[in-house]
Amino acid sequence: MLEIKNLTVKVKEKVILDNFSLTINDHKIHALMGQNGTGKSTLCRVIMHNDDYEVVSGQILFNGKDLTKMDTTAIAQEKIFMLGQSPIAIEGVTNAEMLRTSLSECTEEPINIFAFNKKMEDICQMLELPIDFIHREVNVGMSGGERKKNELLHMWMLEPKLIMLDEVDSGLDVDSLKLVANSLKKYYEKYKPMILIITHHNNLLKIIKPDKVDIIKKGKIVATGDYSLAKKIENEGFKAFNISGLGNNE
Ligand SMILES: Nc1ncnc2c1ncn2[C@@H]1O[C@H](COP(=O)(O)OP(=O)(O)OP(=O)(O)O)[C@@H](O)[C@H]1O
Ligand SMILES: [Mg+2]
Repeated sequence: MLEIKNLTVKVKEKVILDNFSLTINDHKIHALMGQNGTGKSTLCRVIMHNDDYEVVSGQILFNGKDLTKMDTTAIAQEKIFMLGQSPIAIEGVTNAEMLRTSLSECTEEPINIFAFNKKMEDICQMLELPIDFIHREVNVGMSGGERKKNELLHMWMLEPKLIMLDEVDSGLDVDSLKLVANSLKKYYEKYKPMILIITHHNNLLKIIKPDKVDIIKKGKIVATGDYSLAKKIENEGFKAFNISGLGNNE
């Protein structure tokens, strides 16, 4: 269970998240939507303990442990995974090297290299990525859509329990979007993780139906609903509908 309690976060003296609270129960899928610059990516970065952000107050409890008091390595070891809005390239480190190292940081058991390679190959096939992606440097020279799929390859290999997807749908062509959404659905059905989907559109949510949709405005949740809320936003936009009429907890 992820419980974010009264979290206030500043960057360069500006408050970005303002007494923000959100709970994701085990095995639940949440969508977080909101206009540009409302604090969605900031939330993910703070959960992963990015030092650029100052946690002024509040807690981020993951199965009872306060992530605000842990470093990023320890957070990753809790099996928390973030797919960033613009995945970074890491020169000189291949996917296989990075994933072998990450896995060995998370488990005491030795990695079976044959099983590891076979799993990577199978996932590449599922994501329609060439097999040589296994030995490509992480995201180096990859197109925008390939980077998103490459991050999903990492997700499948690391088997996280909490997954944060920050605009995984942006930059994907229509077919890739379906492929990625179905791959996520398959992952969910197999491992039943908690998932936080940040998106501006309905396309992904049509396939992986969220249990809950939250709307963020100025660093606070202002409306909460089910999947129909995402459809309403897609059709009418944020400005067009009256957030205060949607059971907000402002
Ligand atoms: N490291 C930083 N330095 C300065 N300002 C920052 C930093 N990180 C976030 N901000 C500011 O905080 C606000 C929220 O940014 P954030 O990236 O969380 O928005 P977002 O909701 O993800 O928007 P989008 O939908 O455009 O991705 C923005 O005004 C942004 O400029
Ligand atoms: Mg963002």
